[in-house]
Amino acid sequence: MKTTTWGIIGPGKIAGKFAIALGMVEGASLGAIASRDAARGREFASRHGVATVYDDYAQLAADPAIDAIYVATPHGFHAEHSILCLRHGKAVLCEKPLALNAREAGEMVAAAREHGVFLMEAMWTRYVPLMRSIMELTRSGQIGMIKYIRGDFGFFAAFDPNGRLFNIRLGGGSLLDIGIYPLFLCLQLLGEPETITAYGRLSPTGSDETCHAILGFADGATAVVSSTLACGTSLSAEIAGTEGMIRIGTSWYKNDHYEWNRTGEAVSTVQLEPLVNGFEYQIREVMECLNKGLIESPSLPHSFSLMMARTMDAIRGHIGVRYLTD
Ligand SMILES: NC(=O)c1ccc[n+]([C@@H]2O[C@H](COP(=O)([O-])OP(=O)(O)OC[C@H]3O[C@@H](n4cnc5c(N)ncnc54)[C@H](OP(=O)(O)O)[C@@H]3O)[C@@H](O)[C@H]2O)c1
Repeated sequence: MKTTTWGIIGPGKIAGKFAIALGMVEGASLGAIASRDAARGREFASRHGVATVYDDYAQLAADPAIDAIYVATPHGFHAEHSILCLRHGKAVLCEKPLALNAREAGEMVAAAREHGVFLMEAMWTRYVPLMRSIMELTRSGQIGMIKYIRGDFGFFAAFDPNGRLFNIRLGGGSLLDIGIYPLFLCLQLLGEPETITAYGRLSPTGSDETCHAILGFADGATAVVSSTLACGTSLSAEIAGTEGMIRIGTSWYKNDHYEWNRTGEAVSTVQLEPLVNGFEYQIREVMECLNKGLIESPSLPHSFSLMMARTMDAIRGHIGVRYLTD
């Protein structure tokens, strides 16, 4: 595979995990990073052996030595920073959620198409062995027709009106940060919901501390998606069909095993390769797409990210969470 030289915008917490994952992928190298804070940038660069540090995101976007950029800033800046990179002809892997809302996500997709450059949402769970295995099992009809999915993602986060988890300007709220994972599972397996209803409890900043969404699908399937920053939850998921059921325990979105059975039959455990970092699978997907000259991944296309953004807009409409660019 051709070598891909990566850059990172926003060397925060998740960027560190991504930099480690790059080291696990053959043909990938981390050429430069950009931070608004030169000292933070230098510290990150020395920790991860990066040669070039910019204190301006636009300089990284313009660096001719960089092929692809991982955008790891808070959600409120995903659209601005991704479009900056796309305009400079850089492939973009943008952290989830792709944007604050469907309008912004649409602008990002339009920029990728206009400039003929690759864009993908970093929904890494799509590529972990667990997800691939579950997709094969359900597609082969082993549990019959999927009729019900439930998934949750919750942890306790102390309220901080300025932190990215609660600050509306940064895209705060449980749905966009973690509810997106069980939502992804439902949409990946069932497609776009036909009906959406939701209940939320908002934090003092107006972001959702807790969100429960109930989705209905045209073929009669239903799903329940829960997220919260108020407490830890079981981080589990179930996928039930007319002929059987899949159960994924803690933490379902990155687990290396799951259980399933056909109705009335014994439960089997499917053991997959253990997850080391987890991000390496999505990085390989991006690089394979770049080698093929694609501007979107066939397995996580722009249309899927737009569908997720539309669905989250509708859920937020029910619970009354509004972002500045809505
Ligand atoms: N895939 C996953 O498992 C996963 C896990 C956690 C988070 N995420 C996603 O990754 C993104 C970043 O999350 P994180 O936890 O890494 O955040 P973080 O540690 O707060 O880092 C965000 C970085 O964004 C940059 N930034 C640019 N403008 C900013 C602003 N106005 N306010 C604050 N930071 C700003 C900062 O870099 P400089 O100031 O140095 O430029 C900062 O280091 C989020 O969209 C989140 O959804 C994904």
